[in-house]
Amino acid sequence: MIADDLVVGGARPLRGTLRLPGDKSISHRALIFAALASGPSTVTHLATGDDVRATRTALEQLGVPITARAGAYEIVGRGIDAWHEPATVIDCANSGTTMRVLAGALASRPFLSVLDGDASLRTRPMGRVVGPLRAMGADIDGRDGGEHAPLTIRGGPLTGMRHELPVASAQVKSALVLAGLAASGRTEIVSPGVSRDHTERMLAALGAPVTVDGRTVRVEAGAPGRFVIDVPGDPSSAAFFAVGAAITPGSEIVVEHLSCNPTRLGFVTVLQRMGADIEVRVTGEECGEPVGELHVRSSALRATEIGGDEIANVIDEIPALAVAAAFADGVTEVRDAQELAVKESDRISTVRSELAAMGVAAEARADGLSIRGGHPRPGAFRSHGDHRIAMAAAVAANALDGASTISGWRAVASSYPGFIDDLSRLRGAPDS
Ligand code: S3P
Repeated sequence: MIADDLVVGGARPLRGTLRLPGDKSISHRALIFAALASGPSTVTHLATGDDVRATRTALEQLGVPITARAGAYEIVGRGIDAWHEPATVIDCANSGTTMRVLAGALASRPFLSVLDGDASLRTRPMGRVVGPLRAMGADIDGRDGGEHAPLTIRGGPLTGMRHELPVASAQVKSALVLAGLAASGRTEIVSPGVSRDHTERMLAALGAPVTVDGRTVRVEAGAPGRFVIDVPGDPSSAAFFAVGAAITPGSEIVVEHLSCNPTRLGFVTVLQRMGADIEVRVTGEECGEPVGELHVRSSALRATEIGGDEIANVIDEIPALAVAAAFADGVTEVRDAQELAVKESDRISTVRSELAAMGVAAEARADGLSIRGGHPRPGAFRSHGDHRIAMAAAVAANALDGASTISGWRAVASSYPGFIDDLSRLRGAPDS
């Protein structure tokens, strides 16, 4: 059980080598793709949080056998045609990826599925996935005309078509790729900007008929083959330690077996621009996904501008980068990031409020924030029920002289229940 109030004692350098739990985005996809394949697949280093557990439980409800033995998951896929109607509502908990991506797969299934989630997930926009799936022929609805969960899906035959997405969303793109694999004819998905490309990379590596041409993904009817994957560590989790090491004098860390997918490493580029001593070394590949190491040492930081096409590749890392900005010299501008408002919390407002709690002036706008770096001080921080706000506060607290508290710490369970154990190990001492 994770305590709901965390106390982080004063400044301590982060030192050592870390292997992080498997990447959350790759873990969701590994489970779902294995359930679409025929034959057993094996997944090790699956993400440990509640979000990926929600996907696993959902697949079990759909009749996919999954067993865990000594840290390895065996998923026995028998193709999507073997999925059956779930006996109860599928609980996606706090996980937008579970709800949106599964909706795409379920849109072709000839049975009723109901997808629900927690209070936060019920406020998040679902029309972006419901609309295009309806256009392919799915019978799918939800509250507010399909804009909000719970979603009801009574699937059926789908027809491939061309989609021009209004938002660069990997979840929506992935949902439409999965719908396209079960549709007749060709499906094309055109994104207005870059978004993480795990679905395209992994499915192509697993032999599914998915090709990429610039920002267009083309899909024909088909399925991935069975596979074995050792899921590389989560760059979005690594970002917290990277920022923690960059801002805390005397720090030096190495993160091993990390996903080095370029669509996930925008935070490294931003930190380099800020003057951080940070470097990525690619050493191998897993199912089409580059894998490598991250090396970070502390250094003085300066303000930067983050915006435009870069935003999609750092959207989950803004809470961590906001902490870097708080410790940097000058005013950091985050623009074109209106998507922040519809994440696990409204991260424009929650980042601003936690920066204020550490005495850092930040101005919130509809599309981002201006953060005036300066002299953060320890304080009483709140997670707002958002795992990434909680972890950002913890690495800020680690760099500050004096103890800080974080209430609502339990939110870290969504993605990284063991975060504080890893932070404590790098600090060289346990925190209460
Ligand atoms: C994810 C895509 C992103 C990201 C989320 C995970 C994924 O969301 O913020 O944490 O695994 O596809 P959007 O698709 O809404 O941009």
